[in-house]
Amino acid sequence: MWCRHGAALGPIAAMGAATAPCAHYACAAAALVPRPLPLPPVPPPETGRAVAGSSGAVTCGASWRLMERERRTGTGSSTMVTDEEVAAIGRTLLDAAQPLPARFRALFTLRNLGGPAAISCIARGFTDSSALLKHELAFCLGQMRDRTAIPALIRVLRDRQQEPMVRHEAGEALGAIGDPEVLDVLRCYSEDPVVEVAETCQLAVQRLQWLQEHGEEPGSSPYCSVDPAPPAEETDVATLRTMLLDESRPLFDRYRAMFALRNLGGRDAVLALADGLRAGSALFRHEIGYVLGQMQDEACVPQLTAALSSRAENPMVRHECAEALGSIARPSCLDTLRTFARDEERVVRESCEVALDMYEYENSPQFQYADGLCRLQA
Ligand SMILES: [Fe+2]
Ligand SMILES: [Fe+2]
Repeated sequence: MWCRHGAALGPIAAMGAATAPCAHYACAAAALVPRPLPLPPVPPPETGRAVAGSSGAVTCGASWRLMERERRTGTGSSTMVTDEEVAAIGRTLLDAAQPLPARFRALFTLRNLGGPAAISCIARGFTDSSALLKHELAFCLGQMRDRTAIPALIRVLRDRQQEPMVRHEAGEALGAIGDPEVLDVLRCYSEDPVVEVAETCQLAVQRLQWLQEHGEEPGSSPYCSVDPAPPAEETDVATLRTMLLDESRPLFDRYRAMFALRNLGGRDAVLALADGLRAGSALFRHEIGYVLGQMQDEACVPQLTAALSSRAENPMVRHECAEALGSIARPSCLDTLRTFARDEERVVRESCEVALDMYEYENSPQFQYADGLCRLQA
């Protein structure tokens, strides 16, 4: 069982209580547990290396691995973190002189910690010059699913000085938090002149409407991510592939097919998804890159490499393909990432830099990606 921060619930939940306090630091229902009992093992996703640990681009992958290990050892859910420590991790995040991979690791540490102090540190980063970092700030605020972040996210969505990729992620995060109070704002930006922003807000409106009708489906993502659309109920890969690639269908339906294929997993599903890298809508293609990063299956390395290598491709798509290659982290990914770490597009360069750090993490015995707290305490 997980709290809304994606952290393991405490022993009461482990014993099967219907309602249990969250043992996560600073959760609204916080009830810190001094000595956690070992939690039962979580059945991991069935596919590929996701079983072995991480499960998604920089984001869910790192935290999934962290949480899975913490659950196994029973150490994570009782970590006491002071506001001073949160502030110190926030300083690393906000310090433009720090290497970007270190700032990313600080961000994911804050994301895992949650709470108002972490959210306020993250929200202060939207004045940074790196679109990559800012879009990841918005992503994390959405995944944390804390209403406290809504005003900051609305400000970013409204700010036309922010890069489309950052505004897109703010819109998606507002949908991820799942509060219908933002429906009017999202409807307004569903007609934004920037197509990625408009499409994102259309999807977010549909997600919120779908939630109002069907309620939240806990565990709809085996990767612990809050997705922009629920998975389709269909389980036939060929049928899902047809839905995915049919550009006459609403984007929401194609997204539902995408997440159903991801959840099914396996080589056929991976290859069907990889075909989506040649389909219409840059937003759609970037989400395909993200999903392939979550799946961590080497079968799609050639398609991801082709998309990253195409200078005609939208930088947002190239970015997501770079991070997916870093998450897959096989030797076949390495040369490409090193080459495009010198790309003329800043967001592509920086994505490769972060992806190379992920590659290193995936191929090392490091305990956790979101290691800001360990670095602080070391
Ligand atoms: Fe995105
Ligand atoms: Fe991204």
